[in-house]
Amino acid sequence: MRKILIATVKPFAPVAVKKISKIFDKAGYSVELLEKYTDKKELLEAISDVDAAIIRSDKFDEEVLNAGRNLKIIVRAGAGYDNVDLKTATERGIVVMNTPGQNANAVAELAIGLAIYGLREQFSGRPGGEMRGRTLGLHGFGFVARNVFRIARAMGMKVIVYTRYSKAAAAAIGLKVTKSLEELYEKSDIISIHVPARGEHLKSVSYEVLKHLKDGSIIVNTARKEVINESDLIKCMEKNPKIKYMSDLTPDCLSDFEEKFADRYFFTPKKAGAQTAEANLNAGLAAAHQIVDFFEKGDATYQVNK
Ligand code: 3PG
Repeated sequence: MRKILIATVKPFAPVAVKKISKIFDKAGYSVELLEKYTDKKELLEAISDVDAAIIRSDKFDEEVLNAGRNLKIIVRAGAGYDNVDLKTATERGIVVMNTPGQNANAVAELAIGLAIYGLREQFSGRPGGEMRGRTLGLHGFGFVARNVFRIARAMGMKVIVYTRYSKAAAAAIGLKVTKSLEELYEKSDIISIHVPARGEHLKSVSYEVLKHLKDGSIIVNTARKEVINESDLIKCMEKNPKIKYMSDLTPDCLSDFEEKFADRYFFTPKKAGAQTAEANLNAGLAAAHQIVDFFEKGDATYQVNK
């Protein structure tokens, strides 16, 4: 009998766990649930005899992967898989998948929410601004950015985008693609970041880019903290006293923000972008189906470590 582990420090909504378990029951697999674990040892023990795992931002490093002696597939229920050591997984012959797009609407709604929260001076009563008529710059044009675009357009915003890989998709829906990242940051009132924490995107939001920001612009980051050069962001916010940073990721240099930028930043206490029942259901059920299809039909669609 196949054994499946659901390992989530940040648990899925109970309704999602229930439905995921049903899919595995139907396939004749057993399910082990490890939620809210605080000690890595718990994960090392739980992974030791399972065939597959569904995870979220749970860190699957070399030690965890090597502890999974029977592990054949890991599905990251979500988009970013920077938490999985792909090199070790590939060496060990473990298939790693994600569930692209499944939690995108939830993250997009949070991005818009953060933009409004910043624009409305964090609901403090101080006069704020409106989304309508402002220019939203999408840094990246994947599933989340496309949902942000849909919502922003309905709010009467002008939307522009910088993307290297999805130019045709953006142009097809009439979106203006800027020639450079600098141009995007220069022309936007609100920037929403939607690039993964890998390759050329790491620290891609550097001073060279940030120095082009307009007075009073807001940066919204629901992607990863690693895509921002934090010391450059601080330098830019020091030089321009009206720029704000609203994020679903707490930066490493939190104390600098606390000391220097009162009222100009907000960080969710816990990463909340994909934390809706709907996103948990979409991503969790997709992950479960992907595992069953992999074992039963050899289907490796969505494998990210080919
Ligand atoms: C993702 O990469 O899918 C999002 O960052 C959501 O991450 P989470 O599942 O840890 O909330």
